[in-house]
Amino acid sequence: MPRPVAAVECRAFGPVDALVVAERAREPLTAGQVRIEVAACGVNFVDALFVEGRYQIRPPLPFVPGSEVAGRIVEAAPDVDGVAVGERVFANVGLGGYASEVVVATEQVVPLPEALTDGQAATFVQSYLTAWFALHERARITAGETLAVLGAGSGVGLAAVDVASAAGLAVVAVASSADKRALAERHGAVASIDGSMAAAEVKDAIRSFGAEHDGPSGGVHHLYDPVGGELGETCLRALGEDGQYLVIGFVAGIPRLPANQVLLRNRRVVGVDWGAWSGRHPDRNRAILDEVVAGIAAGDLDPVEPVTYPLADAARALTDLGRRVVAGKVALVP
Ligand SMILES: NC(=O)c1ccc[n+]([C@@H]2O[C@H](COP(=O)([O-])OP(=O)(O)OC[C@H]3O[C@@H](n4cnc5c(N)ncnc54)[C@H](OP(=O)(O)O)[C@@H]3O)[C@@H](O)[C@H]2O)c1
Repeated sequence: MPRPVAAVECRAFGPVDALVVAERAREPLTAGQVRIEVAACGVNFVDALFVEGRYQIRPPLPFVPGSEVAGRIVEAAPDVDGVAVGERVFANVGLGGYASEVVVATEQVVPLPEALTDGQAATFVQSYLTAWFALHERARITAGETLAVLGAGSGVGLAAVDVASAAGLAVVAVASSADKRALAERHGAVASIDGSMAAAEVKDAIRSFGAEHDGPSGGVHHLYDPVGGELGETCLRALGEDGQYLVIGFVAGIPRLPANQVLLRNRRVVGVDWGAWSGRHPDRNRAILDEVVAGIAAGDLDPVEPVTYPLADAARALTDLGRRVVAGKVALVP
C-alpha cells in the first residue's frame, strides 16, 4: 500500500500560521509524467508572499506552496524515457512542493549530481539561477570588478556572493548578524559590513571597500539588492562611475531611487526578473542551470546545506525566514 500524500495547504490568503497539513489522494500519472518521493523541499521568501496573497500571481485556493524539490522517482508513466524509477532528481515545480510527493512532467526533472545533497538540490535553483542571471546575463560582470551584496547571509544574496566570487570579483557582504556575515565570508566575500548599522554608515563602508579594492571613482562597480527599502535607496549612492544597481527584491519595501543619483556618476539601474524570463526562455534557462551544476561539480560553487524543518513545521520555517533569524537556506523534510 503506498503511503498517503501529506501536503501543506493554503486554504485562504493570510498569515502563514493558517497553513494546514492535510492528507491528499494520490494523483494519477498522465503521459510524460513521473512521481517524485520528496526528500527535501526548498523554502523561499516568495512562498510567504504567495500564502499572504501579496505576490503578483494569486493561485486558485486551496494550493500547496513550494517551488523546489529534490527526491527519488518512484513511478513513471509508460511513455517516459530519459529518467528512470529509483533515480535521484530535483525539479522546479512552480507550486506544490511542500508535500511528501509531487507529480511532474519529465521535462521539469533534472538528474541530481553526486556532488549535491538532497537539501542543497532542493534549495539552490531559485537562488543560484537568479544570481547567475543577474550577474552574468544582466550585469555582465568581469573579473577584478567590485560588488556589494545586500541581504548577503541568505537566499539570493548568499548565492550572489558565491557566483560573483567564483567569477573573480571582490565581494563585500552586507548582513545583519555575525553568523550571516561569517557564512558569506565562507562563500567567498573578502569583507563584510554589519547591515544593522544606519543605512548611511553601510553606504560609507561600501564606498571605503570600493576605494580599497580598485573600485571605480566614488564606490563599487555593482550593487546587488534583494532588500530594497531605505537601505537600497541609500546604498545606490555607494556606486562609482558607471556603476550598476541590480534590482532583485523588496523584502524591506520598494525603494524610491532618486533619479538625480542615477544621473550622477552615469549610474545604471538594471531590472532582474529571472522567474518570468526563465518561463519565456526555457532553453537559455536550462543552459544557465547546466553551467551552475557544472560549477558545483567542479567545486567552484558551493550551495549552502540548508537548515531543515519537518513538513508539519512549514509555518515556523516561513516565520523564521521572515524574522531574519536563519543564516543560509531553509528546507522542509517530509
Ligand atoms: N528578481 C528575481 O528574479 C528574484 C528571484 C528570487 C527571489 N527574489 C526576491 O529576492 C528577495 C529575497 O529573497 P530570498 O529568498 O533571498 O529571501 P531571504 O532568504 O529571506 O533573504 C532576505 C534577506 O534580506 C534581509 N532583510 C533586510 N531587511 C529585511 C526585512 N525587512 N525583512 C526580511 N528580510 C530582510 C535579511 O538579511 P539581514 O538580516 O542580513 O538584513 C534576509 O536574510 C525577495 O523579495 C524575493 O521575492 C527575486
